[in-house]
Amino acid sequence: MSNEVIESLKKHRSIRSFKEKKIEKDILDEIIGVGLRAANGGNLQGYSLIIIDDLDRLEKLGVYNTPLAIVALADAYRTKRWFNIFGEDKVAVNTAHGFFINNWDALICLHNIAIAAESLGLGTYYNGDVTSMDLKNVINNPEYTFPSGMLCLGYPKDEGKILDRLPLEAIVHYNSYKIPTEKDIKKWYGEKERLFQTRNSKERLKELKDKGIFNIAQAYSKSKFKKEELDRISEGIKRNIKESGYDI
Ligand SMILES: Cc1cc2nc3c(=O)[nH]c(=O)nc-3n(C[C@H](O)[C@H](O)[C@H](O)COP(=O)(O)O)c2cc1C
Repeated sequence: MSNEVIESLKKHRSIRSFKEKKIEKDILDEIIGVGLRAANGGNLQGYSLIIIDDLDRLEKLGVYNTPLAIVALADAYRTKRWFNIFGEDKVAVNTAHGFFINNWDALICLHNIAIAAESLGLGTYYNGDVTSMDLKNVINNPEYTFPSGMLCLGYPKDEGKILDRLPLEAIVHYNSYKIPTEKDIKKWYGEKERLFQTRNSKERLKELKDKGIFNIAQAYSKSKFKKEELDRISEGIKRNIKESGYDI
């Protein structure tokens, strides 16, 4: 059971190394056009896309060696302007509901773009820092906008690597959430542990052990979950929400 869409999705891997070649305008228009075909709340398309291909601006956002990035904003500003023009002054567009619907809209639009891009041989990766970035000076986004996601794109310099995924049974619950046993968890994460122990060199594993890291769970928890760093990022997110005027 397969087709071109499924084959393309199965080949997904993030690409972070790009040729200098620019993405042609007709290709860009096509992938963005199919992004806009994504389902969206009330068909109001509560998002805007900022295409950044000015390398200085990308660098200001800490994005290097990437020819183009798309920032998807959860955007209640444009809809509000439309309502205002027609005399509707007090419209509740910036509620928590508006925020989450627009955020959802923005991200599925962006992911449609990612899927379309990959199907045409482009490489992509998401930049998860965008929600906490101080963007205003760079992209001039108005009130009632929040940076939901950033997709970086270009022609791949290398093939990248297809990474492992958890098995279906770890992710999927039928009808209600089934609390896993410790044995379940160990089984589901076993492949990651196997790859960690076999793909790291002996020297690297020794280095990690000297730091008190004996397995991949410890490697993740000690590197990705550093409280101070996450607190700093979270402060950026809270600032962006506050500045956006979304009431959450
Ligand atoms: C919400 C989100 C945030 C991400 N942030 C980053 C990032 O800041 N930098 C990066 O290089 N990759 C980022 N990625 C890509 C992930 O690291 C990548 O998807 C994951 O490791 C699985 O690898 P794969 O996409 O190659 O299968 C992000 C992906 C998502 C969905």
